[in-house]
Formats: sequence, structure tokens, C-alpha cells
Amino acid sequence: MAEKSPVSRRTFVQTAGVATAAAVASKYVAASPAILKVKAAGAEVKYGFIGPGSRGARLMERHLTKIDAGRCVAVCDVYQPNLDAAAKKIGTNPDKYNDYRELLARKDVEAVFITVPLYLHYPIMRDALLAGKHVFCEKSLVFKPEEYHGLKKLHQDNPNLMVQVGLQRRYSLFYKLAEEMIRKGTIGEITHVFGQWHRNTNWRRPLTDASLEKQINWRMYREFSGGLTAELASHQIDIADRMIGESPLYVQGVGGLDYFKDGRDIYDNILLDFVYPSGKKFQYSSITTNAHLPYGGLKGMPEFGEMIKGTEGTIEITLGKSMWFREPVVAARKEEAGKAKENWVAGSTVSTVKAGDGFPLLLPDDEITENDSFLQRELKFARRWLYSKGVMVPEEEVDPEYAELKSFLECVRDKKPENIKANIEVGLLDSLGVMLSNKAMDEGRRVYYAEIDKMGVAT
Ligand SMILES: NC(=O)c1ccc[n+]([C@@H]2O[C@H](COP(=O)([O-])OP(=O)(O)OC[C@H]3O[C@@H](n4cnc5c(N)ncnc54)[C@H](O)[C@@H]3O)[C@@H](O)[C@H]2O)c1
Repeated sequence: MAEKSPVSRRTFVQTAGVATAAAVASKYVAASPAILKVKAAGAEVKYGFIGPGSRGARLMERHLTKIDAGRCVAVCDVYQPNLDAAAKKIGTNPDKYNDYRELLARKDVEAVFITVPLYLHYPIMRDALLAGKHVFCEKSLVFKPEEYHGLKKLHQDNPNLMVQVGLQRRYSLFYKLAEEMIRKGTIGEITHVFGQWHRNTNWRRPLTDASLEKQINWRMYREFSGGLTAELASHQIDIADRMIGESPLYVQGVGGLDYFKDGRDIYDNILLDFVYPSGKKFQYSSITTNAHLPYGGLKGMPEFGEMIKGTEGTIEITLGKSMWFREPVVAARKEEAGKAKENWVAGSTVSTVKAGDGFPLLLPDDEITENDSFLQRELKFARRWLYSKGVMVPEEEVDPEYAELKSFLECVRDKKPENIKANIEVGLLDSLGVMLSNKAMDEGRRVYYAEIDKMGVAT
């Protein structure tokens, strides 16, 4: 029988009864990024953007053009086509620079977005902090052990300057709910996390001029890149650390360059094991020759996801979808003890879940509250029923990428460093995981996190 394709909540709202849909949709529209246009005088952070290549252009076009907390006044790129395209995309008539130091010299620039290749993150971030700018830098925050120590020191010396790393899952409601469920013990004691990012793609970008190979395809060369570990695993290493709630003790792994024999020197497949002081473990893989995602709860989602296993349940999660499962053995035991009808608290929401059945994590919008009208309540019940049948999936109303950028500009504007979720500590621990994983694979041994104390420091 053909599978029914899940429909999103938005689609459902569109096809629901007109009066009900209008009532509920009006709330969603009010929260929609596209029309957030209320602007207080002097409330804009003036920012510069350095390195608007593929990632930068996406952040600009999809999100920054819709965020009123900041205004782009300057753009810098060494590659003229990207510079010109970015200045046009952002639409604020920014000044254009080829040398980032000229951009940093501008007094009116309060903050910078840095989306250059990994090997340039630290030198540009360092100069930006020394010039007194707040920094949003893409992951992985730093590339080498000496940069890890250097950034730590710079931050200690300039504690008022904010640093945020581009780990957008830190701004996802699904991940927040998962973390809350875990802390409340909903899936018992966590013992293992599994994660994968499996692709069936090459990574090679086409060139118009062969001499630009290393400039355009920097990702494929160790001189400039941390490979799959930095580009993909970094997101999920942060998830494992966050859900487990510890920093790893050591990492071990194997990497290979077995398929793409085209001159690149990074691994095209990696397998990693992280062991935490409590004995909890995170097992990770990233390959480039097969994209199948085997987690049943994440059916329909592409390439990447994580599975968090506890003694009483499992959470399967990715950007855009999350399911949880009660552990049948535990559920049966509770049923025997006469607790079959108990409510299971998931974050701020409550639902009754049958053992073995997966159930989506419910976002706050799906919560039934006292203030709901009859129609709102009916619609929520209907949605939840459709979720439970797998014909509709809950959807985050705000894209975590939009949320991370808006939050950064608001933190700078309101001088609220404490509100940065993907902060410098998160970014440093995450890039430490990346560096040590690569070392573990290169040297074929366990690499202890404590080794960083002696790595990259002058002796
Ligand atoms: N958070 C995410 O999900 C995510 C996704 C994709 C990429 N990234 C990260 O974003 C960063 C950039 O990746 P990308 O794919 O956009 O790379 P890219 O090569 O497409 O873009 C990098 C840009 O930086 C420019 N550049 C290089 N040297 C420069 C210099 N000295 N001064 C100014 N500009 C310079 C390049 O010309 C290019 O336009 C990487 O660190 C990557 O890991 C993050």
C-alpha cells in the first residue's frame, strides 16, 4: 500500500474549516518573521558581514533581510562575484570591501557576522574582537588547538564582547523540548546517543577557472578544513554533549578516504565513539556514499538525525521533526503496577502515549490552554490526533536559523550576553570535539579531552 505523506501543520490549517483556520492562522501570521516590521528609533545594530559565500548568502537572503534588530552597513569578500551578489541581496546599500581590516576599522560597525572558510575563523574573529566588535561566527568556531587557547584568552580579556557560534539547533524548539524531557527524566537515565549525517554527494563545487580549486573547494583540503567532522559532525557533537549534560572524557574513531579519489585529502567517511566521564556514550557516523536515514521516527526526513536512548524511552530528533517512544518493557511493568493511564509529561505538554508507539514532541502551540476558544481547542485535538496517526507532523513556526540571527542582534542591541545560547563556551567545547576527533582518527588512538591543556601551548 502506498504510504501517506505527512502533511505539515500549515497545510492542515489551510485545508481546515475556514472560520477555524482563520482564527488559528491569524496567530501564526502574527508570529511570522516576514512581517515583523516594528522598528524603534535607534534600535538597530549596525553590522558588517565578512565572507558571504554559500552560507552567508543564505543567512542574508532568507533571514537577515527580515530581521529589524540590525542593519548591514558593510560587506567584505575577497571574491568579487560573491561580494557584489551579497551587497545586492541584503538590500541596505552596504559599503563593499575586499580587505576585512578596513571593515573592522569602521567605528559605526558594532558587530560582525563571519562566514569565511574554517581556517580563517580565528584570525578574523581575533581581529574583530581586538577592534571591539561583537562576533557571530559560523561553526566550527576554531580550527587549531592554539586558536582554542587564543580565543579563550581573548574572551577573558574582553568579557563584554559577545561571541555566538552558528549552531542553530541551540535555537530549535524541538531540541529545547527534548532537553527538558530528558532533564525531567521522561526517558529515564540516558545511556547512549547515536547520530548520523549520511550523504550521497560529492562536495566538489564546479570551477570556471582551475586555479581557484583550493579557494572554492577549500572544504576538501586539510590545510583549510576539518572535513566531515567540522562541517557536519560539529552540529551533532554539540547535541550529544548537551543532551548528556557532560563534556566527553575521550574520543576514538576511524576515518577513511576510500571513495572520492579526486585529489582531496580529507576523509570521505568517519566513525566516532565519544565516552563521557559517567560512562555514557555517543556513537557517530558520517559517510558520503549513501544517504538513507534508518531512524523510523524520522521517516521522511533527509540525511541527518540523532537518537537519544534512556532506560525508559527514546527520542529521535532532527531539525524539523522529533518523536519519542516509551520503552515497552518499562511501560508493561508500569501497566502491571496499575499505572497504565498515567500522564506523561513532555516538556510543557502532556499526552497519553501507548507503549511502543512513537509520538511527536508537542510544541507549545499544540498545548491546550484554558484561554483557547472552542474552535481552537477542537483544532488542537484534531491536530494531535493527526500527529498520532502519522498523517501530519508538528512544525516549528520560526526557523532556528532565523531565531539564532535575530537573537544575536537582540543580545547585542539590548546588551544581554547572558541570553546567548550558542555562546563561546558551547562553541569552544564543540570545536574541541572536532579537533580531537580528527586527531583520534589520524593517530588511531583514544584522544582524551584533557590533552588540550598541553596542546597548542608554548612550552
Ligand atoms: N551552520 C551551518 O549549518 C552551516 C552550513 C554551511 C556552512 N557553514 C559554515 O560556514 C562557513 C562558510 O562555508 P561556505 O560553504 O559558505 O563557504 P564558501 O566558500 O561558500 O564561502 C566562504 C566565503 O568567504 C570568502 N572569503 C574567503 N577568504 C576571505 C577573506 N580573507 N576575507 C573575506 N572573505 C573571504 C570567500 O570568497 C567566500 O565567499 C564554514 O565555516 C562552514 O562550516 C555552516
